[in-house]
Amino acid sequence: MFTILKKQELAPSVKLFVVQAPLIARKCQPGQFVILRIDENGERIPLTIADFDRAAGTITLIFQEVGHTTRQLGRLSAGDALLDLAGPLGKATHIEKFGTVVCVGGGIGVAPVYPIARAYKEAGNKVISIIGARNADLLILEQEMAAISDVLYITTDDGSKGRKGLVIDPLKEMLAAGEKIDLVMAIGPVIMMKSVAEVTRPYGVHTIVSLNPIMVDGTGMCGGCRVSVGNKNKFACVDGPEFNAHEVDFDGLMARQKMYHSYERREHRCGGD
Ligand code: FES
Repeated sequence: MFTILKKQELAPSVKLFVVQAPLIARKCQPGQFVILRIDENGERIPLTIADFDRAAGTITLIFQEVGHTTRQLGRLSAGDALLDLAGPLGKATHIEKFGTVVCVGGGIGVAPVYPIARAYKEAGNKVISIIGARNADLLILEQEMAAISDVLYITTDDGSKGRKGLVIDPLKEMLAAGEKIDLVMAIGPVIMMKSVAEVTRPYGVHTIVSLNPIMVDGTGMCGGCRVSVGNKNKFACVDGPEFNAHEVDFDGLMARQKMYHSYERREHRCGGD
C-alpha cells in the first residue's frame, strides 16, 4: 500500500499528494510518470511525478479533478493509501547543459515542468520559466518555479496575476529581440503546446513538448494517446511522453480529442458512474 503522507489543495480542484513510495523515489527521473489505482475496482490513471525525495522515499503527485476517478482521488486524505502505484514509467527527460532553456508550463502542466526545469538548472543551464493559468487562483507552484529559475514570467488570461495574456507572449518577445535560446520545453493544454511550437518553428529553436496530458490509461493498450509524430504513429505513454514539437501533428491530435468531449461532458453532468 502506498500511504498518502500529505495532502494540499493548490487551486480549486487541483490537489497535491506526497506519497510514500521508496522504490519509485529511488529510481525516478524528471519526465517520468506513474500509474495508480485507488482500489481494485478503480480505473488506472497515469500521473506525472511532480517531485521526489529519494532520502525520504516519497514522490509528489499533482492532479486536477476532471472525472470520476480523479474526483474520487481528491476525496482521499493524509493517512489513506492507494492500492497500487506502478512506475517509474515513460522515458526520462534528456538533461544536459544546453545553455539557455525556456520552460513553459500552462495550467496543471506546470506540475510536470517543475522537476524538469529544476534538473536543467542543476545541469548548469540558464533557466527562463514562463508559467500561466486562466486566473490567479489556478496558478500553481509559483514559488517552487521561482526558486529554480533565473527568470520567471507569469501570465494569466484575465491579468489577475502577472501579465495579462498567454504564456507564448514573453517567448515571442524574447525570440523577436534576438535572445539566444537553445531549447524550449513546453507542457500544458494541447492548444498551448501547438502555439509554442508555431512560435519557435520560424526561429529553428529546438522545442520539446510532453504529451502526458493526453494519456488515458498509460499502458499502450487503449490507444487514447496515439499521435502522429514525423508522420509516424506514436503512443505518448510508450514512445514518449516527450517529442520534438515541430514534428507533432497537433491538428490531428486535437481532432481526435474532440471525439472524447461529449463523453466527458456527460461524465461531468452525471458526476461519474
Ligand atoms: Fe492508453 Fe497510451 S494512454 S495507449
